[in-house]
Amino acid sequence: MIHEERNIEGKGNSMIHSSESQDLILPKYKIPELESDGDEILDLVKEELFLDGNARQNLATFCQTYEDDNIHELMDMCMNKNMIDKDEYPQTAEIESRCVHILGDLWNAPEGGNCVGTSTVGSSEGCMLGGLAMLFRWREKREKEGLPTDKPNLVTGPVQICWKKFARYWNVELREVPMDRERQAMTPKQMLPYIDENTIGVVATMGLTFTGMYEPIEEICQALDKLQEEKGLDISVHVDGASGGFVAPFCAPDLKWDFRNPRVLSISASSHKFGLTPLGCGFVLWRHKQDLPEDLVFHVNYLGGDMSVFQLNFSRPAGQVISQYYQFLRLGREGYKRVHTSCYETAQYLAIEIGKMGPFELMFEADPERGIPCITWRLKEDANVSFNLYDFADRLRNRGWQIPAYSLPPDAEDVVVQRILVRQGFGLDMAELLVDDFHRTLDYFKDHKVTVNLTEAEAGGFAHNGR
Ligand SMILES: Cc1ncc(COP(=O)(O)O)c(C=O)c1O
Repeated sequence: MIHEERNIEGKGNSMIHSSESQDLILPKYKIPELESDGDEILDLVKEELFLDGNARQNLATFCQTYEDDNIHELMDMCMNKNMIDKDEYPQTAEIESRCVHILGDLWNAPEGGNCVGTSTVGSSEGCMLGGLAMLFRWREKREKEGLPTDKPNLVTGPVQICWKKFARYWNVELREVPMDRERQAMTPKQMLPYIDENTIGVVATMGLTFTGMYEPIEEICQALDKLQEEKGLDISVHVDGASGGFVAPFCAPDLKWDFRNPRVLSISASSHKFGLTPLGCGFVLWRHKQDLPEDLVFHVNYLGGDMSVFQLNFSRPAGQVISQYYQFLRLGREGYKRVHTSCYETAQYLAIEIGKMGPFELMFEADPERGIPCITWRLKEDANVSFNLYDFADRLRNRGWQIPAYSLPPDAEDVVVQRILVRQGFGLDMAELLVDDFHRTLDYFKDHKVTVNLTEAEAGGFAHNGR
């Protein structure tokens, strides 16, 4: 983060070397001149970290906040391995390639279809690479046909901020099909009018950031088939499976969201979400080798051998990829299904309890066929309460719970929702304690009427809905 330098009147830099650690103030804007005792500094840095929220009570994040001891051991062992040094760490490279194959199988890539892919630092990088491949493929085709290539557009439902970044960074017009009060996912009917000859592709999401719902990918693909028959436009689909890509294969295996649809040419997902690895890992795969344009791939020889590189970052930690392989082997299909099913059950319990409380109207209730283990609700129009959901979120924070309230994207900006993501490590016992805190909070607002409601910015907001 870029922060402004505050005037600390010279306090910081000198006091680090005083004797009692309580008297110390850590330098904040300049590197100290002298060395310090490592253990003392460790204590001070750790103390500052206690000010952070408790990761287990962070029900806002989609990312893992639980790891077992074996993962710690593997991460520690791989601390100094660079994923990009494939010649130096050939076994790590082999394990990455096994993960790509396992995912190709999980996502039903055509047999013998030589699907290709890579690990990434997360879904954002996977989406960026998927988007670039769509852009390059479209441009190449148009150039061959002698057609202009200066106005590419991308058609999506309500997407995470990474797609807004993609569009802005690469000068692609983002055509985000608007929501309305009652419909929060892209339907094929609404999508079609946004598509034209300059459309580089369609992005459909498995686990919408705003509600947790899946978009109807099979229907979207069928509508695009029909469009091709009628108008000759051949539009491919990238599935942003950030969360659902690691959930649906285990909990909704018959849902046809993946490479079973021939129009789906690429899929990305975050390992550090429901893939159950520590933070810093995702994957992106293409259906066939030829769907990843050769122009995106660089070949380097200075690490030894001929290495193809198409990730955005060069150096990357390897431990997360190794952890992904460990989780695949350790859990198998059975274990992933068990872990995620238990998240659905906890989320469904919360949905029932929150629904019974009175003022809340559930919008999504963790149905495995329709979305990830997530529940979303809004205030009923006739709730007749003095608080809004920003006040409610703020009050829950008093007990450490981080449950974001936020407004939906256009054209449903007037709808404010609150959302809970249930992940491994958050079980029924914690959920029961959370329900108690919901009741406590409702009682508090009965006794303390709110006269000035909080705004989204005052309540802390939600980082995924960038404008
Ligand atoms: C649908 C979707 N796509 C992409 C992302 C970005 O993922 P990452 O945080 O792994 O970069 C997220 C993050 O929550 C998401 O929900």
